[in-house]
This record gives sequence, structure tokens and C-alpha cells, in this order.
Amino acid sequence: MSTVNPPPAAGQERPVLRLARTLVQRFYACVKATQMYDSAHGMVEEASGDLVDTIRALCRQEGRARLDRGHGMLALNGGVLQPDLAGTGSFRFTLDRMTACRIGGIVFEESVTPRDVVLLCDALNRSTCDLEDPFEAVSAHLRENGAAGLRVERSRDLPDDVGVRPTRRSVKQRSVECFFRSFRLARHMLAAGDPGRIDFKRAKRVVQDMVDAISEEKFILLSLANIKNYDQYTFNHSTNVAIYSIAFGLHLGLDRPTLAELGISGLFHDLGKTRVPRKILNKTTALETHEWEAMKAHSTLGAEILLESRRMNDALIRNILVAFEHHLNADLGGYPRLAGHRDLNLFSRIVAIADGYDALTTARVYRNMSYTPQEALSVMLEGRGSVYDAVLLKFFIHSIGIHPIGSVVELSSREKAIVYRGNPDHPDLPVVRVFSDPDGNRIPGRQEDLSRMLPGHEPLRIERPIDPGSCFESIEDYLGIL
Ligand SMILES: [Fe+2]
Ligand SMILES: [Fe+2]
Repeated sequence: MSTVNPPPAAGQERPVLRLARTLVQRFYACVKATQMYDSAHGMVEEASGDLVDTIRALCRQEGRARLDRGHGMLALNGGVLQPDLAGTGSFRFTLDRMTACRIGGIVFEESVTPRDVVLLCDALNRSTCDLEDPFEAVSAHLRENGAAGLRVERSRDLPDDVGVRPTRRSVKQRSVECFFRSFRLARHMLAAGDPGRIDFKRAKRVVQDMVDAISEEKFILLSLANIKNYDQYTFNHSTNVAIYSIAFGLHLGLDRPTLAELGISGLFHDLGKTRVPRKILNKTTALETHEWEAMKAHSTLGAEILLESRRMNDALIRNILVAFEHHLNADLGGYPRLAGHRDLNLFSRIVAIADGYDALTTARVYRNMSYTPQEALSVMLEGRGSVYDAVLLKFFIHSIGIHPIGSVVELSSREKAIVYRGNPDHPDLPVVRVFSDPDGNRIPGRQEDLSRMLPGHEPLRIERPIDPGSCFESIEDYLGIL
């Protein structure tokens, strides 16, 4: 960043960072306004005018205004942006839209006009990762309409710069592959409580692929985590906890190496269950006191297995802490019982939330009903501050939304759809993909932004969540609609 401004006094934020955050918030407001209204509407005029004012102020201060995306982060003129609590939604949204359109950077000139930014917002709204080349679609829209005050640059952290375009199919394939690789790995490791079976290298490769896939397109892996496999609960659960932890960590702004470590901790969190007798794990009635004590021992047993597994390093210490702490509550209730106070590791607090959410939304051998995502989140909210870290839980609910990505819903039209993208402004009005008509017949996927009001059309609303298991015959059938 430019050094023309004097450094701020201790405790003061540089004015340019405040402006940069305002830019992201106003950019988001402008994209949303253009989604809902046409370009002549007063709301669009106001939003685009505000955004242009901010861009010009930045150009005057810094000589330029360049918004870059890379490694799950946004940067303004080379300075990485950290969103404040209020700005998380707009930050995440901007990052997601740039990722989906394969945009690495947006360069604004001081001469930018409200018309230019409206053209950009329109292009971002139209372009989806369904297109062969979403970046070219945005770029062509700007070029053909003469948007002279800004330009977009193709992403450099994706393979499209070396001539291999990541089509939607390839993102899907990679996501599906790493989901099933993770499932097989969990089955291999959890088949016996043998530290020799923990293949750290293989786990690292799988989780890194998961991080890449989720950073690029979280829809597929979150949808797969939403299929709850009752029979193979423990293997599926480990993969799902890794997926939810990574998606949540990405929402929190963690970098890629940290996300990969977090994913491995999620994958390994229940390793200790391999040393709990199977008849206790699979018991369909209430556990006797001694059985419950044996079940609770899985957190210390997991830490022991990991301790025996390899030479100590920082990453392994975090894995061990998560295995040991993931059933310790925020108020240090839960288990194992502790003699004194301790601060729970950040990874443990994240994995505890992902673990609780997956467990509540999955039917189990001892409970054939699962909670809907909304019910699970309200159960978890009852434990905010006592069971779960209150601040992290708030972020988690924000990241998951009341209609989580990948969940299956029935619309007011009686059509069935899968939630494709959240809407931070209107959590009840996400973007969905309709896959079934009111009579239950499969139809070619149709994308609907439920927040978009179309003149002369009854607004579509979500009526209720549906268990994916009730509307798909097989996993292949489900994969077909993703
Ligand atoms: Fe556990
Ligand atoms: Fe668990």
C-alpha cells in the first residue's frame, strides 16, 4: 500500500482500511440492488453512486483502487482486508462471487462512473460457474457495453490461466472424489484402534483437496455432507465434521494451510471410538452408567492413539488437543472432567460446533429421528456460552444460514429444490436449484434467486425442509442433481 499518509497513532485504524471495508460493503449493496431492481431504479442509483464515491476517495488517497482475491482472502491495493463482525456477510459474498466468476482482481479507475459499476454488478449476477468460462462472460459484458472506468483480471490461483478451464463438471468431480476418498480413509483408520493405520500423508492430501474444492465451490461438498448415512455413521461423520469445519474456517477467514490442519483435526476427532466396544457404540437403548463411562473415554483414548502415532510436531499437538477437548463445553462442563481451568483450543471449539451440528442432523442407532438444520441450530443456540463458544456459534449460524447450502427444501410452488447459495441479507431467501415439479417429476435444474422479485410473478418461498433420503433413490440419483 502507499505510504504517503502518516502512520496512525497506536490503537487507531488507518483511514484507508476503513474506506476499503466501506468499498466492500457498498459493492455488496450495489450487487444486491441490481439483483432486485433495474438500473433506473432509485435504489440502484443510490447504491452505485455511494460505491463510486468510495472508489474515487480511495483513488485520491492511494492513486488507485484495486480489489484482489486469492487464497480465500480479499486485498485492497495489496493490503489484506480483515472484515469486522458487521462486514463479514458482504466480505464473504464478494469473495464468493469473485471466485464463482474466476475473477482474481477488479481494477477501478478514478474516472469510474455509476453506469460502469452497475454493468459490473449485472455481469456478476448473470455469470455463474455453470458457464464454460464465467470470467469471459463478465469480461465480455463490460467490453461490449463500454465500461471504461474499470476492468476485471482473470484469477491466477486457478488453472484457467494455464489453459485448463475448471468447468463446473470438473469441480463437481473433484469434490465427489475427495468426499469418497475421505470416507474410505476414515473407514480404513477407524477399522481398528491401531495408531499404525493412521496415514497422515493420505489424510493431508485428501483434506487439501477438500480445502481447494470448498474454496472454489462449497455447494457440492456441503450437499454431500447433507446426506446422512445411518449405517456407516462413524466414517461419514468424520468426513462431514471435516467438511463443516473447513467451510466454517473459510467463513472465519482462516488461510489454506490452517484450513487443512483444521480439516485433519475434524477427520481425526473421534479416533478414540475405535477403542470403545462395538456393542456399546451400536447399542439402541439407553446406556448403563458403566457403558456411558466407556463411551466418554473416547476423547482421552483418541488423544492417546494420536500420541502413539508419530513424532510430535505443532500440527499433531493440535490434532491431539481436538481429540481430547471436543466434548469439553465452553464452561468446561462435558467430558473428560478437568482438575483445573484451561482455555480450549480454537480448533477444538470449531470442531465441537461442527460435531454437534452433524450429530443432531443425523439419525442414529439410538434415535431414528434427526433434527432439521433449523431445529439443530435452535437446539445448539440453547447451549450458547455454556456448551458452545457463543461468538463462534453466532458465526457458524451466519455461515450455515437458516437454509444451509446443500439442504433440500419444498417451495411454495410445491416444487422441490436444493439450496445453492446463501443470502446474508435475507437468510430465508437463498438461491436454489429446482429439480422436481409440483407432482414430484424430475425436471432439468433451474436456478432461482428467491430474493429476486419478478413483476407479475408470485414470489417463491421456502415452505419446509425435506430429508434428502426421502426424495432420492440412490446416491447416483442425488449426485445427478448437483
Ligand atoms: Fe466425539
Ligand atoms: Fe464426533
